[in-house]
Amino acid sequence: MSTLVWSEALSLSMPVMDATHQEFVDLLALVEASEDAVLLSNWKELVAHTEAHFAREDQWMQATGFAAGNCHSTQHAVVLDVLREGSRQGAAGHLAPIRQIAHELAMWFPHHAQNMDFGLALHLKSMGYDPETGLVGEPDKLPDQAITGCGGACGSTSQPPASPVAAEVSAHP
Ligand SMILES: [Fe+2]
Ligand SMILES: [Fe+2]
Repeated sequence: MSTLVWSEALSLSMPVMDATHQEFVDLLALVEASEDAVLLSNWKELVAHTEAHFAREDQWMQATGFAAGNCHSTQHAVVLDVLREGSRQGAAGHLAPIRQIAHELAMWFPHHAQNMDFGLALHLKSMGYDPETGLVGEPDKLPDQAITGCGGACGSTSQPPASPVAAEVSAHP
């Protein structure tokens, strides 16, 4: 049984984001269930999907008033570094780090989705942003100054649980 299972508790009522998150959960479950022979290839598929997933959210933030170095995008970058390290370890024949990182990722993701992604979804909806077209429905709602935080969802409750992935994230706020 995989560590992380999709449930409505993970839904952010934003279909395009929810669809990506469901795919992420499914790919992560596949990694956790993988035999050694296919672990690295399935891991690489998860990493590639996560690169696109995070890049899309980063792009939405850029389009709606976030600074490039905002805390949500920074957390994405730090987590991707950890995932890529898993790929390097796997390519060197070390599969245990991939399994460990996958487990930590499953612990980290619900917190990220329910705090940072939830905050981003609210932010996007507040200005009528359409992720499909990239159009801002209510441009007067765009912030006057670039947002460096997480748009109101970066408080202490948004900290991921203690884990090497989370420790990496916490060390680079
Ligand atoms: Fe996300
Ligand atoms: Fe995110």
